[in-house]
Amino acid sequence: MDLKEDIRRLAEEKRAIIMAHNYQRPEVQDIADFVGDSLELSTKARDCKEDIIIFCGVHFMAETAKILSPHKKVVIPRVDAGCPMADMITYDELLNWKIQFEGYKVVTYVNSSAAVKSISDSCCTSSNAVRVVERIDSNKILFVPDRNLGHYVSRFVKKDIICWDGFCPTHERLTSEDILTAKRLYPHAKVLVHPECRPEVIDLADKALSTSGIIKYCKESDDKIFIIGTEEGIIHRLQKENPTKTFILASKKLVCPNMKLTSLQDIHESLITLEPEITLSDDVVNGARKALKTMYELTL
Ligand code: 13P
Ligand code: SF4
Repeated sequence: MDLKEDIRRLAEEKRAIIMAHNYQRPEVQDIADFVGDSLELSTKARDCKEDIIIFCGVHFMAETAKILSPHKKVVIPRVDAGCPMADMITYDELLNWKIQFEGYKVVTYVNSSAAVKSISDSCCTSSNAVRVVERIDSNKILFVPDRNLGHYVSRFVKKDIICWDGFCPTHERLTSEDILTAKRLYPHAKVLVHPECRPEVIDLADKALSTSGIIKYCKESDDKIFIIGTEEGIIHRLQKENPTKTFILASKKLVCPNMKLTSLQDIHESLITLEPEITLSDDVVNGARKALKTMYELTL
């Protein structure tokens, strides 16, 4: 039996669901039960009937699944798949910042540790950040950790928003020069970028959307050619779901090394051992769940 078939056999035998982020390697996306953006993956983890989740993504995403479903077993095939942006703010740093800016409410991007979420007022994802900041009951916001997403939100919401100085190293590498070069080569293309990109890159784009937002837009659009400003793993799904359309990655630099770590072999291994498992303390789970619950309530 080949590796892919054996993965599917094991998943069925153990009644496990395999979830993968839109940036995962093509072969990982293809064997997954569900592929999505951060918000869709969190929601699916919460609502699925399976008690074992094999989470192919980065650490904070698997943690989010665990926070929302503490009674489920959440397994991350590569425990070393982290997110450098999530590591740019620690629990202690946020605690001190909250003391310095008393009276502000903290909106935390899901790309953060569970401990940081646990002392936040609300979480948000790239697909709902504008709505969360708009609707939260305060005009004074501390936005962590992504300064670019925070800046993007401030284009739409006129509140006092102070951003932590974090960023995604992968999206930060995309420059306005890259977009201008791609536009010169493909003048009729629609330019779609992720809100983690620099403000000057977003200025040049037709839309800034979450990963699944980009996928939905391309599916529904009558346009035929798109310049894509986000991690290269998304191209696989775009091409698979829209075989007659053309997708141009805005730069070859758009690779997140952490998102590329998980292999079929790793998934196979973790289905056999059900390790490495995500474990979190009750305090962290309870605090972080409140912040995630607020996000869901604000975006109903
Ligand atoms: P999405 O929520 O848009 O999938 O983004 C997650 C991410 O890590 C982007 O770099
Ligand atoms: Fe983190 Fe950026 Fe990789 Fe997304 S693409 S997981 S934000 S490092």
